[in-house]
Amino acid sequence: MTIVRADAEPALPSVAFPRDFVWGVATAAYQIEGSTTVDGRRPSIWDAFCERPGTVAGGDSGEPGADHYRRMAEDVALMARLGVRAYRFSIAWPRVRPDAGAVNPAGLDFYERLVDELLRAGITPWATLYHWDLPQALEERGGWASRDTAHRFADYADAVLGRLGDRVGTWTTLNEPWCSAFLGYGSGRHAPGRTDPSSAVAAGHHLLLAHGLGVAAIREHAPAARAGLTLNLFPVNVADPASEADAEVRRRIDGLQNRFFLDPVLRGEYPADVLADLEPYGLGGVIGPGDLDVVSAPLDLLGVNYYRDLYVSSIPDEHSGPPSEWVGAEYAGFPDRDLPHTDSGWVVNAGELTGLLVRLHEEYPRLPLYVTENGAAFPDRAGASGMVEDHDRIAFVEAHLRAAHAALQKGVDLRGYFYWSLLDNFEWAEGYAKRFGLVHVDFATQRRTPKASASWYSRVIEDNGLQENDDRAR
Ligand code: FCB
Repeated sequence: MTIVRADAEPALPSVAFPRDFVWGVATAAYQIEGSTTVDGRRPSIWDAFCERPGTVAGGDSGEPGADHYRRMAEDVALMARLGVRAYRFSIAWPRVRPDAGAVNPAGLDFYERLVDELLRAGITPWATLYHWDLPQALEERGGWASRDTAHRFADYADAVLGRLGDRVGTWTTLNEPWCSAFLGYGSGRHAPGRTDPSSAVAAGHHLLLAHGLGVAAIREHAPAARAGLTLNLFPVNVADPASEADAEVRRRIDGLQNRFFLDPVLRGEYPADVLADLEPYGLGGVIGPGDLDVVSAPLDLLGVNYYRDLYVSSIPDEHSGPPSEWVGAEYAGFPDRDLPHTDSGWVVNAGELTGLLVRLHEEYPRLPLYVTENGAAFPDRAGASGMVEDHDRIAFVEAHLRAAHAALQKGVDLRGYFYWSLLDNFEWAEGYAKRFGLVHVDFATQRRTPKASASWYSRVIEDNGLQENDDRAR
C-alpha cells in the first residue's frame, strides 16, 4: 500500500527545526559489520540463534552483513557526503570481551578507528554499548535471566569506556531492552530464542540493572560525556474504547512495553500495577536491595525509537497465546487496521509520535529527548535510472518529522532525529529481505547506491527542516 500523498490533499507548510537540532543516522554492529570470526570475535547469541533452523527468514545470518567491518572508512565517507551530523552505532561485546573473558584489544581497535574516522569527518559519534549481541558464552551461563550477566556487562562497559571515553561525547547503554528481554526470553522470536515468561521478566530487570551499572562506568571514565538509554516506546490504542476488557489489556501492554522500563529508570520504582501483574512470574524476587538506586542513576537524555503504535483488543486472534512476549497478557489480540503498512507489516501512523513525545514530557521527569530510530522497510525496486526511487520512504520520514515538529511546538525538548538505517542490513529474524536503508546495498557485491531518500534527507539536513509539501517538493 502506498503512503505517498495524493495531489488533492491540503498543502503542508514548511517547518524549521531548532538551531543545533541533531540530524543523524543509526546502525547496529551485528546488522552491518559481518566479519563475525575475525580479529578474535567470538559468537554472540545471534550467531547461535541464526544457526537454528527456522529461526531467521531465508536462513540468513549476520554474515556478510553489509561488510561494514571491512568497508568502515568508505561508509564514513558516504555519511560525510550525505551531510549527516551524528552517527549512532553500536559496539559488539563479542569483539571486546569475547566469551565474556579477557579484553580483546583488536576488537577495541576497530571502534577506535571508527571513532577517529568519524571525528576526522566532522561527524559526532554516538555509541551504544549493547544492541542485542550478548556473547553466547554468557547465554550458556544463564544469559540475561542471570543476575551475573549485568555485572559482566559492567566489566565490558569498563573496557570500552576505558578506551573510548575520552573521545565519544554521547553514550547509550542499551538499545530496546524490551526486545532483549521479552522477544529473547518470552516469545523466543529473537535470540536466544527462549520461551519462559519468568526468565523474560528476570531478564528485563537484569537489563535495567546493567543499564545502571553502565551509567556508572560512563560517569567514572567519561565525566564530561552524556549518558542515556534508548527504549522502543509505543502508544497503545484500543480497538473498542467502550470496552473495560480492552482498557485492561491496554493497561497491561502499556505496563510491559513502556512503564516497565520508564518508571524504574526515571522514577526509581516499578509501577505498582506492573509489580502486581508480574508477581506470578517472580518480578519482586529478582529486585535486589539497592537495585533501583542503581537503575535510576541520573541521565542526560532519553532515546526514543518509534516505528508505530500498538492497537490492542481483549479478543484473542490467531497469534494470541503462549509462547508470547506479552507476559500476563498472552490472550491479547492485535487487530489489523485500515492504514498503510510498511514491508514489515507495520502500520504507518506518524501522528502518534507527537502524543508519545508529549506524554514523556508531561508524565516523566524532563530530559532532553532524541528520536534515536525511526524508519521503514519498503520493497525498494530500482527504477530505469538504476536509482531506487523510494518515495514511500520519503513520505514516511516527512510525516514523522512533521509529527516530531508538532511535539516541539507543544514544548517538548526534542533535540534530534536519527533515521534507521544508513544502510540496508540484516533485519534480525526477517533476514536481509527487509530493507530500511537510505543507501541500497547489493549484498552479493556489497555495492552501495544511495536511494532517492538519501539525497532528500541530505537536503532536509542542509535546510534544517522541511519545505512545503516536502515529499513532492524535491
Ligand atoms: C529496531 C531495532 C533495530 C532495527 C529496527 C528496524 O527495533 O532497534 O535494530 O532492526 O527495529
